[in-house]
Amino acid sequence: MKDKILFSFPDKQKLGKSIAKKTGIEIGELTIREFPDKESFVQIHSDVKNKEVYILCGLDKPNTKVMPLLFLADVCKELGAKKAGLITPYLGYMRQDKRFNSGEAVSSQTFGKIMSNYFDYGMTIDPHLHRYKSMDEVYSFPFDVLHAADTISKWIKENIKNPLLIGPDIESRQWVSDVAKKADAPFLVLRKVRKGDKDVEVSVPHVEKYKNNTPVLVDDIISTARTMIGAVNHLNKAGMNKTVCVGIHAVFSGDAYQVMQDAGVADVVTCNTITHKTNKIDVSDVIAERLNSLD
Ligand code: R5P
Repeated sequence: MKDKILFSFPDKQKLGKSIAKKTGIEIGELTIREFPDKESFVQIHSDVKNKEVYILCGLDKPNTKVMPLLFLADVCKELGAKKAGLITPYLGYMRQDKRFNSGEAVSSQTFGKIMSNYFDYGMTIDPHLHRYKSMDEVYSFPFDVLHAADTISKWIKENIKNPLLIGPDIESRQWVSDVAKKADAPFLVLRKVRKGDKDVEVSVPHVEKYKNNTPVLVDDIISTARTMIGAVNHLNKAGMNKTVCVGIHAVFSGDAYQVMQDAGVADVVTCNTITHKTNKIDVSDVIAERLNSLD
């Protein structure tokens, strides 16, 4: 892969190496650290002149990563890079996609404007497109949306016997229906009522006819895990087999992972878009394929 170079953030080194192996892209060397006063220091050690630079940076817990990310993109352009591309397997700041209450900042828009000043291209996996229908409502550079559905359905086919795919809420329909189709499995979508940050109630249509299936909950994000847990509790109450929870993005805020385990699930499985011990589904092929297809 000529004239392209990939810089990976410290927590994305493993994924970066895997992508480089599959694409042949040059691996860029860099230092990112904090000064004692908590300001960020960024230094590149590879030549970027006339190269297309791609930066692999997950934007979970984004606040501490954004400044070094912008410094990195900026220094690459300043030192002659032809293009600065962002590869972010998980793109944060997408969920505040409207002003829910008066005076709230629509952070997705502000974040989009900031990033659009520094990047020429972006690539992400299953971003939270809910009220936004496309990335150009937020970003002014071309932003490719990749999907983990093929990889997830392959994992389900290989690992789960007689799966019944379940979306915990209406918003998850887009992922669960696609994964179910590809895994040749039936699916249901539950209805969720969110009463507060950690208070989620779920209602279920006829689960009784699937008592011999393994319920597999599929959602894009597991954050507080209350959405998953609400669904798991209901499925347990309905006498279903123990549930396997599959999340694309392992956000896991606070004690979420522990609380999920305490809820009596069969397993918690995520994609490696965010590094976490539950990562069992590898998305490096999805990213590598897209990178290979860029001219
Ligand atoms: C909702 O819109 C998303 O698809 C997820 O269901 C949600 O982000 C999960 O959040 P939590 O884990 O906090 O319930």
